[in-house]
Amino acid sequence: MAKKEETISKEESLHHIKLALRRAALIYHYFAKTLVDEFGEKRGTELIRKAVDAYGAHIGQESKQKAKERGLELTPDNFVSDLPDMAWKTETVKVDGEARVRIHLCPLAEEWLDWSEPKMARHYCFVDQAKIQAFNPDYEYVHTKNVLDGDPYCEVAVRQVEKDKTDKSKDLSKQDSEEIVDWVYGKYTREDLMKMDPVCLRALFRERIHHTIEVDIYPVLLGKKKIRGKLGLQPQLILDAWKNRGLPDDDTDFEWGKRYLELAERLRDGEEITIEEPTPVAFKEHELETVRKLIWERCSIRDWIPGKEIPDEMIEKILDAGRVAPTGCNLEIVRFIVIRDPEEAKMVWSDIPTPMDQCVLIVVCYDKRIYETAGHDRLAAHNQLFDCAAAADHICLMAHALGLGAVWLTSTEKTAQSFKKKYCLPDHIEPALHIAVGWPAIGTIKSARMPLSEMVIKRQKEKRGQKRG
Ligand SMILES: Cc1cc2nc3c(=O)[nH]c(=O)nc-3n(C[C@H](O)[C@H](O)[C@H](O)COP(=O)(O)O)c2cc1C
Repeated sequence: MAKKEETISKEESLHHIKLALRRAALIYHYFAKTLVDEFGEKRGTELIRKAVDAYGAHIGQESKQKAKERGLELTPDNFVSDLPDMAWKTETVKVDGEARVRIHLCPLAEEWLDWSEPKMARHYCFVDQAKIQAFNPDYEYVHTKNVLDGDPYCEVAVRQVEKDKTDKSKDLSKQDSEEIVDWVYGKYTREDLMKMDPVCLRALFRERIHHTIEVDIYPVLLGKKKIRGKLGLQPQLILDAWKNRGLPDDDTDFEWGKRYLELAERLRDGEEITIEEPTPVAFKEHELETVRKLIWERCSIRDWIPGKEIPDEMIEKILDAGRVAPTGCNLEIVRFIVIRDPEEAKMVWSDIPTPMDQCVLIVVCYDKRIYETAGHDRLAAHNQLFDCAAAADHICLMAHALGLGAVWLTSTEKTAQSFKKKYCLPDHIEPALHIAVGWPAIGTIKSARMPLSEMVIKRQKEKRGQKRG
């Protein structure tokens, strides 16, 4: 006899959902309390917010993915919520002409009001802001009322971020201050800098040198523009924090940054400066021949001599070529993994038949914390992949110049996940692509490109005799 399907009433399911939510609230309470007890209120609170923001961003990203898969626009109405909505008692109201959602019953808040310091629980509510921001940074989620602040109910509004706030992104360099590093996508006090992860702090140093000095200073040196009074103070503040933390500042990126800081200081003092940097000089014909040989003759090689080792020094040269590739805002987010072990190479999926254990694999990854710190994840997130692509091209060119055969291989999500698991990569390291390098077993019929005329969409021709600018 067929087993009778068991059903439960709506009231019973609601009861169970509420129990689960109250338990989740309790888990939050104990995690949050432990952080505050262990690290003190300030640091503990920062860690709570960090975790809440990361969790919210995770959900927001997921929802964004789902909306995209369904072909939906990233408007708040299309935010794909997977919460058991029946547990929240809500109504939509209009306040001052703005649509708001009033929440009369929140099982999480009920639990917290019973157990916890409302102030500590209140940090959790920022999860919605993080969700919306990750879903679409053009919107923000605001609690206009909150029971944890003593209001009789919670009330929220989803607002479009003011246009002029986002437009200021074009003005990254115009907001120097002596005490804070401050621009439209970030604001860090001295105290923040003293605690910031060193990788991010160092990247922020280069980015601030770039945006507040490098991009501004050349018209000043040419006498076309006057300096801004506080030129260079933001990266100086970062360097001071770096040194105060006892971190070493003698690598070449610091040397580069310090040259700009020195120039900025001299300009602030009113000095007139000329610099001796050489301008690019056209290559001689034989040098151009080498460049042509490299660029035109490089080709993808997909078969390698099995078992023929590539010396470490060659791999070093190849990686070094990747290292010097251009990077967006000089943030240097690219990271490499070199896989030589034939067993480990097997985890890599590729569309070519040659086994991956016959080559060395160079995985090009990026550190996504850095864009988050600089706020560039909201300004130009796509640059992260461009950085990896630029490094990949340098790598393939250098491999070719060394007589090796390389091919850029498309990475799949599964391979990226295998790398993450195998090498215990932290969440912030994203594998973007990989390149297989080996000793060529056979040459490739060099691919040929379509004519340039097919590629050029518009090309303005030189107008002889007419002066520019
Ligand atoms: C983004 C990108 C992804 C690629 N993925 C693969 C791949 O998965 N498998 C492969 O055999 N070649 C791959 N290639 C190499 C291209 O097939 C190759 O560059 C193209 O056919 C032109 O040939 P050439 O490199 O010999 O000039 C990729 C190249 C790029 C730029």
